[in-house]
Amino acid sequence: MATAAAHQTDTAGEDTATGGYERAFDAAVAAEERVEPRDWMPDAYRATLVRQMAQHAHSEIIGMQPEANWITRAPSLRRKAILMAKVQDEAGHGLYLYSAAETLGTSRDELLDKLHSGRQKYSSIFNYPTLTWADVGAIGWLVDGAAITNQVPLCRCSYGPYARAMVRICKEESFHQRQGYELLLALSRGTPEQHAMAQDAVDRWWWPSLMMFGPPDDESAHSAQSMTWKIKRHSNDELRQRFVDICVPQAASLGLTLPDPELRWNEERQRHDFGPIDWAEFRAVLKGNGPCNEQRLSQRRRAHEDGAWVREAAAAYAAKRTGRAEGERA
Ligand SMILES: [Fe+2]
Ligand SMILES: [Fe+2]
Repeated sequence: MATAAAHQTDTAGEDTATGGYERAFDAAVAAEERVEPRDWMPDAYRATLVRQMAQHAHSEIIGMQPEANWITRAPSLRRKAILMAKVQDEAGHGLYLYSAAETLGTSRDELLDKLHSGRQKYSSIFNYPTLTWADVGAIGWLVDGAAITNQVPLCRCSYGPYARAMVRICKEESFHQRQGYELLLALSRGTPEQHAMAQDAVDRWWWPSLMMFGPPDDESAHSAQSMTWKIKRHSNDELRQRFVDICVPQAASLGLTLPDPELRWNEERQRHDFGPIDWAEFRAVLKGNGPCNEQRLSQRRRAHEDGAWVREAAAAYAAKRTGRAEGERA
């Protein structure tokens, strides 16, 4: 949308000029034009995007931990190769998103620092433990599935670099969701013990997955403004309902039950009704009191410290190459 704001600078006084920029920005967003890094944007729009993209990037890299726990214990070479590819994808998603956030003028170091000091959050879902191999399947089916439901509309987000990163991420998430589904199907059709393991994993991951869509609409602090800015396209409750409606027939094909006695088809609404979510649990985990909050953060800090030599070596190599290129030019 580089054109829209450019004609608003000839007004006298800074306030009037900013007002003009703001009107042009609002009009461009309303007209579905993409906002690019060099365009003028309101400070609050920039801050909202940095917060959301950082939280998203942090979730991708923290999300590697619960599943990576199972790489060495995968039951076959095929399953190990799939899981390694999936966990590597998540690292890649983190990289795309940190890079996209950098276009808004915040460095990756700054964002990681905020993660490590607890000043920025990651998705609460990753504070639950992965107790059995079936959890790898439940995470792929439900957690990656919920992520896709949330993220497909982000491919049309008004901020260009975020929207473009999401296109590739969503393609990879779709592979993650299918591998989880296929893994659960194999267990569900296996021995009675394997079937029970799959059911137990779904029982534990179902409700936290529904919490991934965030608080109910009437309690969601940033939703309305994000919708106006076209960062967000659908409300939390709308997306949650969409996810439930997708999962019910999939659970039936898997031969597994969703742990909600109130779950049933509502003929009038043409949607599924479902039971109440335990928001007290959600808030407790968000506050840092989930089963794995401390473990996830300390492991992340340790990984960052252990990787310091790699960052230093890469910086030294880049400096050497720049020096050589400058020498050649001289
Ligand atoms: Fe991801
Ligand atoms: Fe994923």
